[in-house]
Amino acid sequence: MEKAANAPLLDVQGLSVSFATDRGRVKAIDDVSFRVEKGEILSIVGESGSGKSVTLLSLLGLNDPKTTFVEGSVAFQGKRLLELPDRALRRLRGKEIGLISQDPMTALTPVYTIGWQIAEQIRTHENVSKKAARLRAAELLASVGLPNPNEAVDRYPHQLSGGMRQRAVIAMALSCSPSLLVADEPTTALDVTVQAQVLDLLLKLRDEFGSAIILITHDMGVVAEVADRVHVMYAGRMVEKGTTAEVFDRPMHPYSWGLMASIPPLYGEKQSRLPSIPGMPPTPQQAPTGCGFAPRCRFARPECEARPPTRRDGDHTALCVLDGAERETARRMVLEHEVVA
Ligand SMILES: Nc1ncnc2c1ncn2[C@@H]1O[C@H](COP(=O)(O)OP(=O)(O)OP(=O)(O)O)[C@@H](O)[C@H]1O
Ligand SMILES: [Mg+2]
Repeated sequence: MEKAANAPLLDVQGLSVSFATDRGRVKAIDDVSFRVEKGEILSIVGESGSGKSVTLLSLLGLNDPKTTFVEGSVAFQGKRLLELPDRALRRLRGKEIGLISQDPMTALTPVYTIGWQIAEQIRTHENVSKKAARLRAAELLASVGLPNPNEAVDRYPHQLSGGMRQRAVIAMALSCSPSLLVADEPTTALDVTVQAQVLDLLLKLRDEFGSAIILITHDMGVVAEVADRVHVMYAGRMVEKGTTAEVFDRPMHPYSWGLMASIPPLYGEKQSRLPSIPGMPPTPQQAPTGCGFAPRCRFARPECEARPPTRRDGDHTALCVLDGAERETARRMVLEHEVVA
């Protein structure tokens, strides 16, 4: 029992996901492990197609079981999510785990008004009247910055703009004050002022209810501001894991160096063109056995054709052959001495 008290809120071990496609089975996620502690904000970053959404949807059992093969173990509050029956998982998702998915229509049903959907969600878990639940729904919609919330409760999802739908999904995810909020690009469809409002709401959720948050975002400024830890994904693997300070101040993986070098400077002269990493990431069809980043990495060598080893600096880890002084020199070359043309 003592062990359970120290266990993380979410513990993902060896998660691998492959899809059945016309051209056979392709692996999109390869042996991903990570933990989320109570009340912490973990940010997952990485290029488009690196597997961020697939990772989150798979651990919540939201992939099509007919075409998706999921391996590994996912423990949430001691429950093994991958083995839970559908109904139990659905109950958990509405109450203990809130999901703001990248595609708002995953969370919304087209045939009911958004007010009804949020109120129903509240009533599944709390013993409140229909009227009270509807009032709460309108309040939640107001808190995520939806204009005319009292009118919006009676609208169907298709009658809202993309940004409004996104906000309705956020309201729904917040409605049950979940222990874990999974937020996949929650602010991408929103304008800047609303983005800030929504981020504040997420932080409030953490501060008031001790909710943990997994936040996927392309905005490295947001990551630096709110995340406790950052995990970097590339071609279906978590290539670097560490605290936000570790990953921003002393990134270990060459892909992370490229990611850091591409953040625009806050002060000083703006570069006329942001540096970018040359080349394209591999698709799951081309997923190499060796390091997925090697074809774009200027430090690549023959060893990189084999599965990359895990390098450690305490709890800060990276999947890369580079280590020690050699890594330091390479890192400085990219991040400190060189202006990327
Ligand atoms: N149902 C599916 N069948 C086959 N391949 C899939 C399926 N779902 C996702 N993929 C592939 O898995 C890879 C990872 O996709 P994923 O949606 O996780 O990327 P992502 O990191 O979330 O990207 P983005 O930043 O663009 O949202 C992509 O190459 C995608 O094409
Ligand atoms: Mg995604």
